[in-house]
Amino acid sequence: MPTITNIYDLKKIYKRRAPKMFYDYTESGSWTEQTFRENVTDFDHIRLRQRVAVDMSGRSTASTMIGEDVAMPVALAPIGITGMQCADGEIKSARAAEAFGVPYTLTTMSVNSIEQVAEATEKPFWFQLYVMRDENFVDTMIERAKAAKCSALVLTLDLQILGQRHMDIKNGLTTPPKPTLKNIINLSTKPHWGLAMLGAKSWTFGNIVGHAKGVDDISSLSSWAAEQFDPTLDWDKIKEIKKKWGGELILKGILDAEDAKKAINVGADAILVSNHGGRQLDGALSSIRSLAPILDAVNGKIEVFLDSGIRSGQDVLKAMAMGADGVFIGRSYIYGLGAMGQKGVTTALEVIHKELDTTMALCGRRDVKTLDRSDLLIPKNFEGDWQD
Ligand SMILES: Cc1cc2nc3c(=O)[nH]c(=O)nc-3n(C[C@H](O)[C@H](O)[C@H](O)COP(=O)(O)O)c2cc1C
Repeated sequence: MPTITNIYDLKKIYKRRAPKMFYDYTESGSWTEQTFRENVTDFDHIRLRQRVAVDMSGRSTASTMIGEDVAMPVALAPIGITGMQCADGEIKSARAAEAFGVPYTLTTMSVNSIEQVAEATEKPFWFQLYVMRDENFVDTMIERAKAAKCSALVLTLDLQILGQRHMDIKNGLTTPPKPTLKNIINLSTKPHWGLAMLGAKSWTFGNIVGHAKGVDDISSLSSWAAEQFDPTLDWDKIKEIKKKWGGELILKGILDAEDAKKAINVGADAILVSNHGGRQLDGALSSIRSLAPILDAVNGKIEVFLDSGIRSGQDVLKAMAMGADGVFIGRSYIYGLGAMGQKGVTTALEVIHKELDTTMALCGRRDVKTLDRSDLLIPKNFEGDWQD
């Protein structure tokens, strides 16, 4: 096993080990992938202010997210079909997050069901809900999340219609893969993956199959999303969902200051500034460039988290110093999972933690909670100077 020093080392191993269609599913953005690329490259424009001769002993990355203690303010984002990247991928990711002391978010579109993840973990995790046309399914899913003792509902707002990712169409992405000649040839080169999959607890959409009425073939995520995701989702419906859930609600996919204000009005406890990792509206601003105006609009009333583009502890530090209360990582932990299962997720978290901790020290900071904009050198017009 090669020495792993950064997230991209994990990505290289992941590419070798995972079936091509699932690697491509992760490593794609929509259409031209401009937003997907800029989510990462926009972090590079922000520089860090080096400070010296400051006591750097006794550093702490501990913080809270929606009132929960976290070892560092980095949650694992909901990722569809995680259990296809690696057998029982959701269970393994949740266990790694639990052991590390950071939140795990299970997607509606998981392979392991919410009950399977609850059974395999001790501490509460978070559940991400997609709103479907079938209201009964949504109500039941909320009840199942309560029964599983989930401590927050993450409601995703930026995927009521699917942004096109070319490779998923070209690869004929399905869960599980269909036995086509192309797939058989590719899978024959992934023996670790196949062997582990033979013992997996689930092979299909564990939260949906057997729970949603009239659903027979959901192997194709894209056609199922087109049929089932509710295109009429609006702020009134979000208010109803908040009432039904009754607990902590995080609204995911906010990229605009006006929407951030609306999120506060419907009673969100936190928002997640996100463009879905560049997988939905191609051409949208990167999350890090969208953050400052949203923070101004929110004005400290609720917590503001950020995802999309975080590949290092330096990125975490930049987002926190800009004013975020925490971040989520998507691909960074999936690279680890696909490379080495649970151990790989742990390694991804360790890499990010070490980078965050050391970078804090070199910026002359001992406590992640005290980072602020004075730690950063932000280019003029970083948010963009757009016409009205
Ligand atoms: C392969 C993949 C699947 C995803 N599936 C979901 C999902 O089921 N639900 C959701 O709300 N977001 C989903 N997302 C978006 C992530 O939750 C998160 O917003 C994104 O990955 C952050 O960007 P990053 O990957 O650059 O960290 C997915 C992202 C990826 C890469």
